[in-house]
Amino acid sequence: MAVNFQKMNNEMTAMVEFRTMSYVDLKQVISVEEKAYPHPWTLGIFRDCLRVGYNAWVMTLDNDVIGYGIVMLSPGEAHILNICISPDYQRKGLGRHFLRHLIKKMDQTDVDMVLLEVRRSNEHAQELYKSEGFHELGVRKAYYPADNGREDAIILAKYISPDDSR
Ligand SMILES: CC(C)(COP(=O)(O)OP(=O)(O)OC[C@H]1O[C@@H](n2cnc3c(N)ncnc32)[C@H](O)[C@@H]1OP(=O)(O)O)[C@@H](O)C(=O)NCCC(=O)NCCS
Repeated sequence: MAVNFQKMNNEMTAMVEFRTMSYVDLKQVISVEEKAYPHPWTLGIFRDCLRVGYNAWVMTLDNDVIGYGIVMLSPGEAHILNICISPDYQRKGLGRHFLRHLIKKMDQTDVDMVLLEVRRSNEHAQELYKSEGFHELGVRKAYYPADNGREDAIILAKYISPDDSR
């Protein structure tokens, strides 16, 4: 029998919940971060993000954190600093679902441009962003640490309007 991946993804997105991130989530957040990235953020970076009041969200499944996103808001602009889905739950439509959630929340503010950086080698993430209407704005040379030195970041941007509020 053919497997209906779209149906499975829809079921998955219906099961997850979003809420704002708090300090008690950080143990689970850092555990996902360390599994998902070869060069993860430290616990201190996440703490600082909460301390300075960045817009931080977690995605939960049965109260377990399986994804998170951190956004820095400034007048007219939102900068997605981190968006991550636990490797155990990737490829199920949750990254797209989370990105749409973040953009929907931004749309309730005065933001009209969303920015983010992505590693040049992270082609899957770039595909996701481009399919959600992001376009390339430029390159930050040697922005990220890498196994053999440094790696460029591609800067992507998306202009949002009230129509994005899905
Ligand atoms: C990038 C990331 C957030 C995507 O989340 P995800 O839940 O795996 O992605 P989705 O299932 O929602 O897929 C969305 C799109 O991304 C692309 N994509 C994601 N993973 C892919 C893979 N392994 N192979 C091919 N395409 C992939 C596809 O275009 C996909 O669309 P499709 O399902 O219509 O083909 C997730 O892989 C992740 O957290 N990676 C580690 C952290 C990271 O790199 N974050 C981004 C930093 S800029």
